[in-house]
Amino acid sequence: MITIPQEGARMGVAVDELDALNAPAEDLTALKQLVYRHRIVVLKNQHLTPGEYVAFGRRLGEVETYYQPMYHHPEHKEIFVSSNVKEDGQQVGVPQTGKFWHHDYSFMPRPFGLTLIYPQVVPEHNRGTYFIDMARAYEKLPEELKTEIKNTRSENSVRRYFKIRPSDVYRPIVEILAEIEEETPASRHPTVFTHPVTGESVLYLSQAITCGLEDESGNPLREGLLEELFDAVGQSDPTCQHENVHLQRFDKGDMLIWDNRALVHRALHTVKPEPTVSFRVTVHDEFEFYPGIG
Ligand SMILES: [Fe+2]
Repeated sequence: MITIPQEGARMGVAVDELDALNAPAEDLTALKQLVYRHRIVVLKNQHLTPGEYVAFGRRLGEVETYYQPMYHHPEHKEIFVSSNVKEDGQQVGVPQTGKFWHHDYSFMPRPFGLTLIYPQVVPEHNRGTYFIDMARAYEKLPEELKTEIKNTRSENSVRRYFKIRPSDVYRPIVEILAEIEEETPASRHPTVFTHPVTGESVLYLSQAITCGLEDESGNPLREGLLEELFDAVGQSDPTCQHENVHLQRFDKGDMLIWDNRALVHRALHTVKPEPTVSFRVTVHDEFEFYPGIG
């Protein structure tokens, strides 16, 4: 396993010559430490079949299968497929995923610590994912804002970005909305939690999923506070040119592993659609997502 710094980048490190399926367990422990310290690891020159990719995920922890079957790989349900390429005339997975600031699964009661993305069809232009390190962003917040959100909770819901399924056509929207609330009620998480590995304070908010803030008794915090926080950390900047934003590019054969506690991410906007296929595997590592999550 060779570690290669990414010159001039805000975060991330490349790792080459890792035999994903046969590397000793100590190497995988070291690999995860790189993810927590550098936030993103780009594993170079990986040539895994879908089944091997899932097996690698299992070597890192407990693999989480996405709750909606329409995203599943046809043979390996543990793989979430983002694709705009039809196979034998059939849509596989879901196109145009994640073009908004979010953490994976923050709307669920128990999110996972690691996200793995393994691009299969890599676009010529506009390839990459935007990231903001929300631990560093928290550090830079004005003290007044830090004080205002101390010991508060955020409400996180998929309701605004839930993707309408083919089976929803002709259904009344009110019925679909009721079903979303029934199946995935909003999850409350601490607005700031301690990263279980690095010990840093992480601001856990995203523009797409966080829809409210409340105090310890459940009373909503003042109007406008959430928007001020999004402005301060760079999530409101539609150009993604804010100083906190890092664009991580990738090539064919790369696999990205990132810290889904500290990072918020957003797919890169494509100006004109190009064929793109990406496989995602998500993993609960051996640490609690945040202390006391239960
Ligand atoms: Fe995502």
